[in-house]
Amino acid sequence: MDKPSKKDLNSANRKDVHIDLAKSDISRSSLSHPLDSVTLPYNSLPEINLDEVDTSCRFFDHTLSFPFMITGMTGGTERGDKLNLAFAEIANQCRVALGIGSQRSSLAHGRSQKQLRRLAPSIPIIGNIGGVQLAQENGLDLAKAAIDDLEANAIAIHLNPLQEIIQPEGDRDWRGVLLAIEKAVKTLPCPVLVKEVGAGISLPVAHKLSEVGVTHIDVACTAGTSWAKIEAARLAPSQLSFYEPFLEWGYSVTEIVPEMRKSLEHLTIIGSGGLRDGVDLAKLLWLGCDIGGGAAILLNALESDSLDIQQNSLQEKLETIQQQLSIALFLIGAKRPVCTDDFYEKNC
Ligand SMILES: Cc1cc2nc3c(=O)[nH]c(=O)nc-3n(C[C@H](O)[C@H](O)[C@H](O)COP(=O)(O)O)c2cc1C
Repeated sequence: MDKPSKKDLNSANRKDVHIDLAKSDISRSSLSHPLDSVTLPYNSLPEINLDEVDTSCRFFDHTLSFPFMITGMTGGTERGDKLNLAFAEIANQCRVALGIGSQRSSLAHGRSQKQLRRLAPSIPIIGNIGGVQLAQENGLDLAKAAIDDLEANAIAIHLNPLQEIIQPEGDRDWRGVLLAIEKAVKTLPCPVLVKEVGAGISLPVAHKLSEVGVTHIDVACTAGTSWAKIEAARLAPSQLSFYEPFLEWGYSVTEIVPEMRKSLEHLTIIGSGGLRDGVDLAKLLWLGCDIGGGAAILLNALESDSLDIQQNSLQEKLETIQQQLSIALFLIGAKRPVCTDDFYEKNC
């Protein structure tokens, strides 16, 4: 790769500041949680044994113990790399998929993250670069390098115009991103997953992505980590008031997923944005997602306030989510993860 530009150097430093802000309450939406308005049916005649509930699923040619993905967060700094190693080990033990944070900076600095594949041989690992970077001159080479470095099973392209517009150093030129995604789908050696980072992907955008061949979308909706708020927290007070009206912009999962499920039947939808527990995961599946994802909740479990890595606590968090999902399915009366359309009318 080319030597790191000034922007790459800034981006490495920014990553650690972002981790601190993402762990704090500053980054959370102040609106009510959309999944609180979703009521799962309660089946007082479940007629199944809890032990029969099977939460496993297939994702990128691997079997996961439950439909869940740690979505991309870190990498490219000493702290980020340490976190990723721990995420990889525990994700592999718990058999959930693992997304890596943007690899632009690690690749530019020659900081390979190869070790992650060795620590996580049994799960899908998903690489990550930005949509704007993909659309730049060497974008496809960057994506290929990102895939090679991790021996990734898929590459996530993140779309985050809201975050970039509030970030003083952010990308303003978003032309050509869809075309670049189309080229990536046609030429890269693995599937392309497109994701937001917390403001949601609308139905028309999902249709455009599907039309160019994208088969996996992580909607990454509002309710959880708000990158608008994180970037706002880095601004001077005078600029902050300017961006205030934009801070809660975006879509909730309840607004977009049911319709997306109906009109894009073959799309794999990853539901994320503020996932709190296994009942939230059951609700995401119920709305029509194929798997759920979470970021900040797992970062907070893994890294203590004093920055110690607590692998046990991450493992417990993932096991709790899986157990809560099993119980939620049992209480619905389902042996397998279910969605409204294929279950409710027949059984509840
Ligand atoms: C510390 C941190 C860093 C992140 N970095 C990236 C990134 O580099 N690329 C990306 O696509 N998403 C990134 N995200 C966004 C997450 O993958 C996720 O979409 C978003 O945080 C919403 O999930 P949550 O509400 O469960 O945190 C990051 C999230 C966190 C918390």
